[in-house]
Amino acid sequence: MRSLKHLALVSTLVMSFAASVIGTSPAAAQKALTIAFVNTGSESGWRAAFSDAMKTEATKEGIDLKYTDGQQKQEVQIAGIRAAIAQKVDAIVLAPIVDTGWDAVLKEAKDAKIPLMTVDRDVTVSDPSLVATHVGADFDHEGRLAASFLAMASAEDPKWAGGCSIVELQGTTGSSAAVDRAKGFGEELALFPLLKIVASQNGDFTRDGGQKAMEALIKSQNNLKDVCAIWSHNDDMLLGALVALKAAGIKTGAGGILTVSVDGVCDAYKAMADGDFSANVVLLPSLGVQAYQAARDIIAGKTVPAWTKMPTSTNVAAGNADLYQKYFAAGCPGYYGPASAQAAATTTP
Ligand code: AHR
Repeated sequence: MRSLKHLALVSTLVMSFAASVIGTSPAAAQKALTIAFVNTGSESGWRAAFSDAMKTEATKEGIDLKYTDGQQKQEVQIAGIRAAIAQKVDAIVLAPIVDTGWDAVLKEAKDAKIPLMTVDRDVTVSDPSLVATHVGADFDHEGRLAASFLAMASAEDPKWAGGCSIVELQGTTGSSAAVDRAKGFGEELALFPLLKIVASQNGDFTRDGGQKAMEALIKSQNNLKDVCAIWSHNDDMLLGALVALKAAGIKTGAGGILTVSVDGVCDAYKAMADGDFSANVVLLPSLGVQAYQAARDIIAGKTVPAWTKMPTSTNVAAGNADLYQKYFAAGCPGYYGPASAQAAATTTP
């Protein structure tokens, strides 16, 4: 009995010491976290990879994840946040569909003393303290990388010496991903007076939407006869557009209309290897490690940065067909898997 008590005392001391080292109370150190993850839905290949990475990482870290599929509806996401507040979860991770309209429900979370953070897309709120932190990429920068690729690639082709007309496939209206990519792309493009967007269509970040949007553009833009480039806010819309373009006999990629899109889904590497796509800007889907670490830090009362910015880069098809073919054949390691973003950054071409 005495030795059992002794053991209990020692383990309590060890727990207290460990907790003091990592800055949490013994109770918090022992407690498995319950986190609500309110996602947008399943609009794209990138979203599938992101959702998988968030769930897999939660399981790995012993987090009890309460998942809400937002079904592309803000009201479903708001209901998901309210349900999480009622369940008294430890933290809420929101991947918002749109940028605005969150003030009231975020205030409810704050009043309930439940930290709420955004991942991937972010929000605009009147009181910045409603969002504990943001983990995600710089969409504005992605747009700038896409525009600078088109500026360089079109300058290399004598066919476009007189100027480069661009058609744009836009993502979900009001989403920070679409708004900021368009803004960054537009501001970068303004540095190159010979390049301009001549028409835009919304494809809602889906393959089907991209196909329909491109069908409309082919009609309205004279079979894209004078179009030099397609700029798509994500790969899925461009993959859908490719179906419409092929049906109309319009060549893209190597020897055809230049293309650039964002994400880096597996099929986009296949399209680059096949000579159908010219380039893409990488959006890492593995945000779970950073998101859950931030949640733990906030719960432990630590100061966290307002924005943990994920890295990005441009992949260009020209000269890399073999590499992308191999990467695709291997199942795009590091992109779909639950590996940390660091690992993904080093394994993604
Ligand atoms: O918010 C990120 C964007 O959402 C991705 O680029 C797109 O594929 C997804 O639907």
